[in-house]
Amino acid sequence: MTLAEQRRPAPGQGRVAGKVAIVTGAGQVDGPGIGTGRATATLLARHGAALVLVDQEPARAAVTQKEIEQAGGRSIVVEGDVTDAADAERMTNSALEAFGRLDILVNNVGVSRPGSILETDEQTWAQLIDVNLKSVYLVSKFALQAMISGGGGSIVNISSIGALRSIGFAAYSAAKGGMISLTREMAAQHGPQGVRVNAIVPGSIQTPRTLGAARLLGTELEDVQGRAARVLPLGQVARGTGWDVAYAALFFASDESSWITGQVLAADGGASVTIPAVALAGLDRQG
Ligand SMILES: NC(=O)c1ccc[n+]([C@@H]2O[C@H](COP(=O)([O-])OP(=O)(O)OC[C@H]3O[C@@H](n4cnc5c(N)ncnc54)[C@H](O)[C@@H]3O)[C@@H](O)[C@H]2O)c1
Repeated sequence: MTLAEQRRPAPGQGRVAGKVAIVTGAGQVDGPGIGTGRATATLLARHGAALVLVDQEPARAAVTQKEIEQAGGRSIVVEGDVTDAADAERMTNSALEAFGRLDILVNNVGVSRPGSILETDEQTWAQLIDVNLKSVYLVSKFALQAMISGGGGSIVNISSIGALRSIGFAAYSAAKGGMISLTREMAAQHGPQGVRVNAIVPGSIQTPRTLGAARLLGTELEDVQGRAARVLPLGQVARGTGWDVAYAALFFASDESSWITGQVLAADGGASVTIPAVALAGLDRQG
């Protein structure tokens, strides 16, 4: 059997069949659309993984669990705060107790606040760095040990376009940029132990949380996305959703990406390859 054949799932099996995955922030805030955590957890389960659904609001993760059950998948809910070391340890221990191993970790939790550093008080700065960046350090620290003992694994960090371009969220973007640097460090240091680490950079995505963020900026989601879409290469033909991030995460989680580590994949409609002023000038030329 060739290596390519070994990596291909057998007919009827999913792309991550037999693997065990933790997804943090596997619930979602109230509102329309699907969050990246719920979409990723549901997709991994559909493709054969057993899921540990982590959320500080267990009722939110329970909704995801119900969807997974209805599709015939297996999952448990673990209540926990990703900024708490004891909770982080319990996430990995729960995976080992319930399913006997750990292969995949998706660090999906993130919170954002708009503002320059002048508009960001020290407490808000600390909270944003903790939830978005320290959480990756803490949850990965325990997960890594289980993965290394089990022969390897895949960690997927959900960053943001704010890591690559100014979006007006100073502390959030700083944390998400740190997440990419940490991704590269972890990939280099734990590749020899069989653990791959990659990052996804979502751009403008329709999730329940973006509605709230738009309101914080004093506007409505459709206004923000409509204006943003004018300068996105794919903005005239599509809108990004939680599923776009989930499919990228499924690829990194699966053995299809066995030779890929330390990489950053943008799911951003092309935002990271355009210069807005040039894109707008192009629109003007088209009339
Ligand atoms: N929505 C977007 O447009 C967008 C764009 C770029 C990046 N992202 C990133 O995608 C990820 C998910 O965003 P979303 O809008 O789908 O998620 P979300 O805001 O709906 O949150 C998902 C879940 O995380 C849980 N959570 C929050 N803080 C937690 C904590 N400390 N411990 C445990 N659970 C916690 C919440 O209870 C919620 O159920 C985040 O990392 C976000 O930064 C989103």
